[in-house]
Amino acid sequence: MLPRNDINVTAGREGLPGWCYANPELYDIECDVLFRRHWQLACHASDIAGKGDFITFDLVGERALIIRGRDGEIRAFHNLCRHRGSRVVADEKGTCPGVITCPFHAWSYELDGRLRSPAKPRSFPDLDPVEWGLKPIEMEIWHGFVFVRFQPGPQPSVKEMLASIEGEITPYDLDGLVPDEDGLYCMESAPVNWKSVRDVDNEGYHVPMAHPGLQDLYGKNYIDESISGYVSRSVGVIDDGPARLWSVRQYKTLISNLPEPLSGLPRQWVYFGLFPNSVLAVYPDSVIFYQDIPKGVGKTSIRGGIYRRKNEDRVTRAARFLSGRIDLLTAEEDRMLTIWSQEAMASSAYDGMILSDLETGVREYHDKLREIIPVMGLKAPPPPGQVAGINAGMAEGAE
Ligand code: FES
Ligand SMILES: [Fe+2]
Repeated sequence: MLPRNDINVTAGREGLPGWCYANPELYDIECDVLFRRHWQLACHASDIAGKGDFITFDLVGERALIIRGRDGEIRAFHNLCRHRGSRVVADEKGTCPGVITCPFHAWSYELDGRLRSPAKPRSFPDLDPVEWGLKPIEMEIWHGFVFVRFQPGPQPSVKEMLASIEGEITPYDLDGLVPDEDGLYCMESAPVNWKSVRDVDNEGYHVPMAHPGLQDLYGKNYIDESISGYVSRSVGVIDDGPARLWSVRQYKTLISNLPEPLSGLPRQWVYFGLFPNSVLAVYPDSVIFYQDIPKGVGKTSIRGGIYRRKNEDRVTRAARFLSGRIDLLTAEEDRMLTIWSQEAMASSAYDGMILSDLETGVREYHDKLREIIPVMGLKAPPPPGQVAGINAGMAEGAE
């Protein structure tokens, strides 16, 4: 028998080292390389159904304004006045009555982004309305969901990226969804690095212990799989077994009684992980999305939306209400797990993770991060001031 120390039981199972969850220089790289340069799910077209309706979406210092024009077209702009950079729209959602007026000095813009007029125009030279209009942001609408990308990046178009799930999502008629009663939401921030949130979300190994509701809903039939470098799929097939929670018991009964065409949908919850920080999930009764929003190296919020079918009947509505309750409970349970994960890394006794075969979602996600930001492969942090330089050197060496 080999002496115990000769067997490397942690090989390939380590996960990212603790320093990656608390290093401000690494966080700056992540903001630039991941969040600004990868597609972000901003909203659904039905969140801004009327002319002049808008939502705003802030992420790592970037600010998007997504607005429907007089012509019915949806456009995305930087929420940044061309005069001195103020937000041209202050609220998270609302309606611009025909014109966007900057709250600072009242420059006004058309709903299609062109500059209409600076305030007191004779105090300026002539300004070209397009050149001095709001700056557009790259945008793509996929089955009604609006994606934006603040800077050019390595991912293909959203359509291309999600081509492999096209067949699976088609029966859910995502284009025809409308927002639930509350619309887009943003939860209170947790004192954790965004990766602590993602790590908890990227595996189902914790479900039997930490989520009694989900365990009784689909825990026995849950799998995680990677679809491509940018898309993962997790599915829980809902069983007919008993459930400890009233909401889960009721939900199981209700989804057996959904009307056509929903009754033809698979009896399962499917989560599509969209790299780096969004999840789109399809249920028989509703469709949801959520995403991690970093608010600093050690602070993260969760933003999302819940969508229902138009002309929803009473059974589906009750089922959606219950799936929302189950999700809310799960989110509260997960929040605690993310906090415990994060605080562990401050302990002098913490020497990293050893990941199970049932945590392949975390392992593959960490591999992807190390591929994009190679400095994350170092067991110890580089000296202060050197993270970006060492990362650039490692990236060059890898090419
Ligand atoms: S910053 Fe917008 S009008 Fe001055
Ligand atoms: Fe969880």
